[in-house]
Amino acid sequence: MTTQMILDCDTGVDDALALIYAADQGARLRACTVTHGNVGVEVGTRNTLTVLDLLGLGTVPVYAGASRPLAQPLETSEHVHGQDGLGDAGVEPSTRQPTGDLAAVEIVRSVREAPGELTLVAIGPLTNIGLALLLEPRLPELVCGIVLMGGAVGVPGNVTELGEANIWHDPEAAQLVLDAAWDVLVVGLETTMAAPMPDEVLRRIERSADPRARFAWATMQGYLDSYEQTLGRRTCVPHDALAVALAIDPDLATYRCVEAFVETGRGRTRGALVGDLRRSVPVPSDPTAPGVIRIVDRFDTDEFYRRVLASLGA
Ligand code: BDR
Ligand code: CA
Repeated sequence: MTTQMILDCDTGVDDALALIYAADQGARLRACTVTHGNVGVEVGTRNTLTVLDLLGLGTVPVYAGASRPLAQPLETSEHVHGQDGLGDAGVEPSTRQPTGDLAAVEIVRSVREAPGELTLVAIGPLTNIGLALLLEPRLPELVCGIVLMGGAVGVPGNVTELGEANIWHDPEAAQLVLDAAWDVLVVGLETTMAAPMPDEVLRRIERSADPRARFAWATMQGYLDSYEQTLGRRTCVPHDALAVALAIDPDLATYRCVEAFVETGRGRTRGALVGDLRRSVPVPSDPTAPGVIRIVDRFDTDEFYRRVLASLGA
């Protein structure tokens, strides 16, 4: 069955790979909504339009959204994604304008229009989703569920010792998402960092003449530089594509449920997603219970990268 999704993104390098993957692997994109995160919301919105143009998906509506987190100042990650959010590779930006600038309102409108049909896929900070929950408390009943890239359950963070970027950029919004009664599939660094891009995949992207691969290869170079500094070898982690892959085909992984919360204190651990790994229970237990998330147990990395290559024509 085709996954119909609203993709909430902060389009930087791996968000772009996720969009490319979604387009090729049969997702039906009802809309893209954009948040602050990797870059400011205006840049992220332009990048989303640019990638959709590349994919011939100019009819997918794009809505700009939150320009800052709920309860802390804006911080962005140009040092990882480039000043333009697409690796400063000289990509020609889209000349199109977003359809609107009230992402949270559009999320509510879309799910009311098609109750029970849409999956929310969040690959940036959760501000837009948090605002949508505040506007429409029945949001959890109106969607199939939410798949989000975020957190680092039981592994190091990538912004602070424990903080992963998407949760750390708006901890209060993330807590709103966890508190709601819906199936929250959390694809965190515990899963994505275990699946860095293999050398052979990089080689095939580099060699491919497909415009999607050319775009990916050009925009990835700074991202590869950044991972080389942390991992000590030239690779990168397409976090967001992995989350989208599981939203489209949950059978690429097995799961378990854990109780979880976000550290919202003002100390050094602010923005950490804490999962209670002492009491992890196999699915099915009730993944829709407030404060319970699903995390990935085993992930089929080989099949994922086969599909990544297919999506890039590489
Ligand atoms: C997440 O943060 C952003 O930098 C990436 O786009 C991804 O969504 C990884 O921690
Ligand atoms: Ca992202």
